[in-house]
Amino acid sequence: MECAIGIDLGGTSIKYALVDVNGNCLLKGQLPSMASLSADAVLGQLEKAVIVVKEEAGKQGYNLKGIGVGTPGIVDETNRIVLGGAENIAGWNNIDIATFLENRFSLPVVVGNDANLMGLGETKYGAGRGCTHVVFITVGTGIGGAVIIDGKLFTGYANRGTELGHTPLIANGERCACGAIGCLEHYASTSALVRAFMKRASVEGINFDENVDGRLIVRLYQERNPLAVDCMNGHFYYLGRGIAGFINVFSPQRVVIGGGLSESGPFYLEGVKRVVDENVIKDCACNTEIVIAKLGNWAGVIGAAALVL
Ligand code: BGC
Repeated sequence: MECAIGIDLGGTSIKYALVDVNGNCLLKGQLPSMASLSADAVLGQLEKAVIVVKEEAGKQGYNLKGIGVGTPGIVDETNRIVLGGAENIAGWNNIDIATFLENRFSLPVVVGNDANLMGLGETKYGAGRGCTHVVFITVGTGIGGAVIIDGKLFTGYANRGTELGHTPLIANGERCACGAIGCLEHYASTSALVRAFMKRASVEGINFDENVDGRLIVRLYQERNPLAVDCMNGHFYYLGRGIAGFINVFSPQRVVIGGGLSESGPFYLEGVKRVVDENVIKDCACNTEIVIAKLGNWAGVIGAAALVL
Protein backbone atom coordinates (compact mmCIF):
# COMPACT_ATOMS: atom_id res chain seq x y z
CA MET A 1 0.00 0.00 0.00
CA GLU A 2 1.18 3.55 -0.77
CA CYS A 3 1.89 5.62 2.34
CA ALA A 4 3.67 8.78 3.40
CA ILE A 5 5.21 10.04 6.60
CA GLY A 6 3.29 13.05 7.92
CA ILE A 7 4.93 15.34 10.47
CA ASP A 8 3.43 18.29 12.31
CA LEU A 9 5.97 20.45 14.09
CA GLY A 10 4.57 22.52 16.94
CA GLY A 11 5.95 24.73 19.69
CA THR A 12 5.61 21.90 22.23
CA SER A 13 5.59 18.61 20.37
CA ILE A 14 6.31 16.94 17.06
CA LYS A 15 3.47 14.70 15.96
CA TYR A 16 4.22 12.06 13.36
CA ALA A 17 2.34 9.31 11.61
CA LEU A 18 2.41 6.85 8.78
CA VAL A 19 -0.58 7.84 6.65
CA ASP A 20 -2.24 5.97 3.80
CA VAL A 21 -3.92 7.42 0.69
CA ASN A 22 -7.29 7.53 2.45
CA GLY A 23 -5.96 9.68 5.29
CA ASN A 24 -5.80 6.83 7.82
CA CYS A 25 -2.97 6.97 10.35
CA LEU A 26 -1.39 3.52 10.53
CA LEU A 27 1.05 4.47 13.25
CA LYS A 28 1.05 7.61 15.37
CA GLY A 29 3.44 9.12 17.86
CA GLN A 30 4.80 12.29 19.35
CA LEU A 31 8.09 13.66 20.64
CA PRO A 32 8.95 16.89 22.43
CA SER A 33 9.90 19.45 19.77
CA MET A 34 12.60 21.14 21.92
CA ALA A 35 11.52 24.39 20.28
CA SER A 36 12.96 26.56 23.03
CA LEU A 37 16.47 25.08 22.59
CA SER A 38 17.70 25.59 19.03
CA ALA A 39 16.96 24.87 15.39
CA ASP A 40 19.48 22.01 15.49
CA ALA A 41 17.69 20.43 18.44
CA VAL A 42 14.39 20.61 16.54
CA LEU A 43 15.95 19.12 13.39
CA GLY A 44 17.34 16.29 15.54
CA GLN A 45 13.84 15.57 16.83
CA LEU A 46 12.42 15.58 13.28
CA GLU A 47 15.08 13.07 12.31
CA LYS A 48 14.13 10.82 15.25
CA ALA A 49 10.46 10.93 14.24
CA VAL A 50 11.27 9.85 10.68
CA ILE A 51 13.50 7.00 11.89
CA VAL A 52 10.63 5.56 13.96
CA VAL A 53 8.06 5.70 11.16
CA LYS A 54 10.40 4.58 8.40
CA GLU A 55 11.41 1.53 10.38
CA GLU A 56 7.79 0.56 10.98
CA ALA A 57 6.88 1.14 7.31
CA GLY A 58 9.80 -1.12 6.33
CA LYS A 59 8.66 -3.89 8.70
CA GLN A 60 5.10 -3.75 7.37
CA GLY A 61 6.28 -3.66 3.76
CA TYR A 62 4.51 -0.37 2.93
CA ASN A 63 5.49 1.60 -0.16
CA LEU A 64 6.76 4.86 1.32
CA LYS A 65 6.32 7.74 -1.15
CA GLY A 66 7.90 10.52 0.88
CA ILE A 67 7.79 12.81 3.88
CA GLY A 68 5.46 15.79 4.37
CA VAL A 69 6.32 18.30 7.08
CA GLY A 70 4.07 21.04 8.48
CA THR A 71 5.90 23.83 10.29
CA PRO A 72 4.85 27.15 11.79
CA GLY A 73 6.07 30.11 9.77
CA ILE A 74 6.32 31.10 6.14
CA VAL A 75 7.57 28.43 3.77
CA ASP A 76 9.19 29.45 0.48
CA GLU A 77 7.43 28.79 -2.81
CA THR A 78 9.49 25.68 -3.54
CA ASN A 79 7.93 24.09 -0.44
CA ARG A 80 11.34 23.29 1.02
CA ILE A 81 12.60 26.10 3.24
CA VAL A 82 11.00 27.77 6.22
CA LEU A 83 11.88 31.41 5.81
CA GLY A 84 10.81 32.79 9.20
CA GLY A 85 7.76 33.95 11.09
CA ALA A 86 7.79 31.01 13.50
CA GLU A 87 8.38 33.01 16.64
CA ASN A 88 7.60 30.07 18.92
CA ILE A 89 10.63 28.09 17.70
CA ALA A 90 14.14 29.31 18.54
CA GLY A 91 16.25 30.17 15.47
CA TRP A 92 13.67 28.79 13.01
CA ASN A 93 14.72 31.06 10.12
CA ASN A 94 15.96 30.04 6.68
CA ILE A 95 15.95 26.36 7.57
CA ASP A 96 16.11 24.00 4.61
CA ILE A 97 14.14 21.19 6.24
CA ALA A 98 13.65 19.33 2.96
CA THR A 99 17.34 19.01 2.05
CA PHE A 100 18.20 18.11 5.65
CA LEU A 101 15.75 15.18 5.68
CA GLU A 102 16.36 14.11 2.06
CA ASN A 103 20.10 13.78 2.72
CA ARG A 104 19.43 11.48 5.64
CA PHE A 105 16.60 9.35 4.35
CA SER A 106 16.69 9.43 0.52
CA LEU A 107 12.96 10.10 0.36
CA PRO A 108 11.33 13.12 -1.31
CA VAL A 109 10.34 15.79 1.23
CA VAL A 110 7.66 18.48 0.93
CA VAL A 111 7.26 21.26 3.49
CA GLY A 112 4.26 23.49 4.15
CA ASN A 113 2.90 25.88 6.74
CA ASP A 114 1.38 23.83 9.60
CA ALA A 115 -2.01 25.54 9.56
CA ASN A 116 -2.26 25.28 5.77
CA LEU A 117 -1.74 21.54 6.03
CA MET A 118 -4.25 21.19 8.86
CA GLY A 119 -6.77 23.10 6.75
CA LEU A 120 -6.01 20.84 3.80
CA GLY A 121 -6.43 17.73 5.99
CA GLU A 122 -9.73 18.98 7.43
CA THR A 123 -11.04 19.84 3.97
CA LYS A 124 -10.06 16.52 2.42
CA TYR A 125 -10.96 14.19 5.26
CA GLY A 126 -12.55 16.14 8.14
CA ALA A 127 -14.98 18.93 9.01
CA GLY A 128 -14.65 20.70 5.65
CA ARG A 129 -15.26 17.60 3.56
CA GLY A 130 -17.52 18.20 0.57
CA CYS A 131 -16.92 21.97 0.59
CA THR A 132 -15.02 23.98 -1.99
CA HIS A 133 -14.66 27.16 0.12
CA VAL A 134 -13.28 26.74 3.62
CA VAL A 135 -11.51 28.95 6.13
CA PHE A 136 -9.63 27.01 8.78
CA ILE A 137 -8.09 28.44 11.90
CA THR A 138 -6.12 26.67 14.57
CA VAL A 139 -6.01 28.18 18.03
CA GLY A 140 -3.05 27.08 20.13
CA THR A 141 0.24 28.64 21.22
CA GLY A 142 -0.20 30.76 18.10
CA ILE A 143 -3.06 31.18 15.66
CA GLY A 144 -2.62 29.79 12.17
CA GLY A 145 -4.96 29.88 9.22
CA ALA A 146 -5.72 28.24 5.91
CA VAL A 147 -7.97 29.31 3.08
CA ILE A 148 -9.38 26.86 0.55
CA ILE A 149 -10.88 28.46 -2.53
CA ASP A 150 -12.50 26.47 -5.35
CA GLY A 151 -11.28 23.30 -3.64
CA LYS A 152 -7.63 24.43 -3.65
CA LEU A 153 -5.39 25.70 -0.92
CA PHE A 154 -4.87 29.43 -1.50
CA THR A 155 -1.52 30.50 -0.02
CA GLY A 156 -1.04 33.94 -1.54
CA TYR A 157 1.55 34.94 -4.10
CA ALA A 158 4.79 32.95 -3.67
CA ASN A 159 3.28 31.02 -0.75
CA ARG A 160 3.61 33.94 1.64
CA GLY A 161 0.08 34.63 2.75
CA THR A 162 -2.90 33.47 4.83
CA GLU A 163 -1.24 34.26 8.14
CA LEU A 164 -4.72 34.78 9.56
CA GLY A 165 -3.43 34.93 13.15
CA HIS A 166 -1.50 38.04 12.26
CA THR A 167 -4.52 40.06 11.26
CA PRO A 168 -4.18 43.35 13.14
CA LEU A 169 -7.30 43.41 15.34
CA ILE A 170 -6.66 45.94 18.10
CA ALA A 171 -5.47 49.44 17.29
CA ASN A 172 -3.15 50.75 20.04
CA GLY A 173 -2.97 47.19 21.40
CA GLU A 174 -0.01 45.20 22.70
CA ARG A 175 2.85 44.05 20.52
CA CYS A 176 2.59 40.55 19.02
CA ALA A 177 5.57 38.16 18.79
CA CYS A 178 5.68 39.00 15.06
CA GLY A 179 6.51 42.61 15.89
CA ALA A 180 3.20 44.18 14.84
CA ILE A 181 0.61 45.69 17.17
CA GLY A 182 -2.64 44.05 18.23
CA CYS A 183 -2.65 40.82 16.16
CA LEU A 184 -5.51 38.37 16.51
CA GLU A 185 -2.99 35.76 17.73
CA HIS A 186 -1.80 38.02 20.52
CA TYR A 187 -5.36 38.40 21.81
CA ALA A 188 -7.13 35.15 20.97
CA SER A 189 -4.56 32.31 21.15
CA THR A 190 -4.52 29.86 24.04
CA SER A 191 -1.35 31.57 25.26
CA ALA A 192 -3.23 34.89 25.24
CA LEU A 193 -6.06 33.37 27.27
CA VAL A 194 -3.60 32.02 29.85
CA ARG A 195 -1.72 35.34 29.94
CA ALA A 196 -4.93 37.33 30.50
CA PHE A 197 -6.04 34.91 33.22
CA MET A 198 -2.68 35.01 35.06
CA LYS A 199 -2.57 38.78 34.90
CA ARG A 200 -6.05 39.14 36.39
CA ALA A 201 -5.34 36.46 39.01
CA SER A 202 -2.17 38.24 40.10
CA VAL A 203 -3.95 41.62 40.34
CA GLU A 204 -6.66 39.99 42.45
CA GLY A 205 -4.10 38.11 44.56
CA ILE A 206 -5.42 34.66 43.59
CA ASN A 207 -2.98 31.73 43.51
CA PHE A 208 -3.43 28.36 41.88
CA ASP A 209 -1.79 25.13 43.04
CA GLU A 210 -1.97 23.62 39.56
CA ASN A 211 -0.25 24.68 36.38
CA VAL A 212 -2.49 27.26 34.68
CA ASP A 213 -3.26 26.21 31.12
CA GLY A 214 -6.21 26.27 28.74
CA ARG A 215 -7.62 23.07 30.20
CA LEU A 216 -7.72 24.49 33.74
CA ILE A 217 -9.35 27.72 32.58
CA VAL A 218 -12.02 25.74 30.71
CA ARG A 219 -12.71 23.65 33.81
CA LEU A 220 -13.03 26.76 35.99
CA TYR A 221 -15.27 28.37 33.36
CA GLN A 222 -17.57 25.40 33.53
CA GLU A 223 -17.63 25.75 37.32
CA ARG A 224 -18.67 29.39 36.77
CA ASN A 225 -15.50 30.80 38.32
CA PRO A 226 -15.93 34.57 37.65
CA LEU A 227 -12.34 35.13 36.60
CA ALA A 228 -12.41 32.22 34.15
CA VAL A 229 -15.81 33.34 32.81
CA ASP A 230 -14.51 36.86 32.14
CA CYS A 231 -11.34 35.65 30.46
CA MET A 232 -13.16 33.06 28.35
CA ASN A 233 -15.69 35.68 27.26
CA GLY A 234 -12.75 37.90 26.30
CA HIS A 235 -11.37 35.02 24.26
CA PHE A 236 -14.71 34.55 22.46
CA TYR A 237 -14.86 38.28 21.81
CA TYR A 238 -11.48 38.50 20.10
CA LEU A 239 -11.75 35.21 18.23
CA GLY A 240 -15.34 35.91 17.14
CA ARG A 241 -14.41 39.33 15.77
CA GLY A 242 -11.48 37.82 13.88
CA ILE A 243 -13.68 35.13 12.36
CA ALA A 244 -16.37 37.66 11.45
CA GLY A 245 -13.69 39.50 9.45
CA PHE A 246 -12.63 36.33 7.64
CA ILE A 247 -16.26 35.58 6.75
CA ASN A 248 -16.71 39.10 5.38
CA VAL A 249 -13.61 38.66 3.22
CA PHE A 250 -13.96 35.06 2.01
CA SER A 251 -17.62 34.16 2.55
CA PRO A 252 -16.70 30.47 2.97
CA GLN A 253 -19.13 27.57 3.17
CA ARG A 254 -17.47 26.54 6.40
CA VAL A 255 -15.22 28.04 9.00
CA VAL A 256 -13.46 25.17 10.74
CA ILE A 257 -11.95 25.87 14.17
CA GLY A 258 -9.17 23.57 15.37
CA GLY A 259 -6.78 23.43 18.31
CA GLY A 260 -7.11 22.10 21.86
CA LEU A 261 -9.56 24.73 23.19
CA SER A 262 -12.05 24.07 20.41
CA GLU A 263 -12.46 20.53 21.70
CA SER A 264 -13.64 21.64 25.12
CA GLY A 265 -17.38 21.29 24.47
CA PRO A 266 -20.42 22.79 22.71
CA PHE A 267 -20.21 25.96 24.84
CA TYR A 268 -17.04 26.89 22.95
CA LEU A 269 -18.66 26.99 19.54
CA GLU A 270 -21.71 28.78 20.96
CA GLY A 271 -19.50 31.44 22.58
CA VAL A 272 -17.63 32.12 19.34
CA LYS A 273 -20.78 32.09 17.18
CA ARG A 274 -22.51 34.62 19.42
CA VAL A 275 -19.76 37.16 18.78
CA VAL A 276 -19.52 36.33 15.08
CA ASP A 277 -23.27 36.92 14.66
CA GLU A 278 -22.97 40.35 16.26
CA ASN A 279 -20.11 41.42 14.02
CA VAL A 280 -20.49 39.82 10.64
CA ILE A 281 -22.23 41.19 7.54
CA LYS A 282 -25.28 38.93 7.27
CA ASP A 283 -25.19 38.69 3.46
CA CYS A 284 -21.57 37.52 3.60
CA ALA A 285 -22.37 34.91 6.27
CA CYS A 286 -25.60 33.47 4.89
CA ASN A 287 -23.87 30.40 3.39
CA THR A 288 -21.36 29.96 6.21
CA GLU A 289 -21.48 27.32 8.88
CA ILE A 290 -18.97 27.51 11.76
CA VAL A 291 -17.86 24.08 12.95
CA ILE A 292 -15.23 22.43 15.12
CA ALA A 293 -12.42 20.48 13.45
CA LYS A 294 -12.91 16.72 13.22
CA LEU A 295 -9.42 15.33 12.90
CA GLY A 296 -8.35 16.79 16.24
CA ASN A 297 -4.64 16.97 16.80
CA TRP A 298 -3.90 14.86 13.76
CA ALA A 299 -5.16 17.16 11.01
CA GLY A 300 -1.67 18.60 10.41
CA VAL A 301 -0.02 15.20 10.13
CA ILE A 302 -2.69 13.94 7.73
CA GLY A 303 -2.50 17.13 5.64
CA ALA A 304 1.30 16.91 5.51
CA ALA A 305 1.11 13.34 4.21
CA ALA A 306 -1.61 14.41 1.75
CA LEU A 307 0.88 16.88 0.24
CA VAL A 308 3.08 13.93 -0.70
CA LEU A 309 0.34 11.52 -1.72
C1 BGC B 1 2.68 31.44 12.96
C2 BGC B 1 2.00 30.69 11.84
C3 BGC B 1 1.53 29.34 12.31
C4 BGC B 1 0.71 29.45 13.57
C5 BGC B 1 0.31 28.11 14.13
C6 BGC B 1 1.77 31.47 14.17
O1 BGC B 1 2.43 32.10 15.23
O2 BGC B 1 2.96 32.77 12.57
O3 BGC B 1 2.87 30.57 10.74
O4 BGC B 1 0.79 28.73 11.29
O5 BGC B 1 1.43 30.15 14.57
O6 BGC B 1 1.41 27.36 14.49
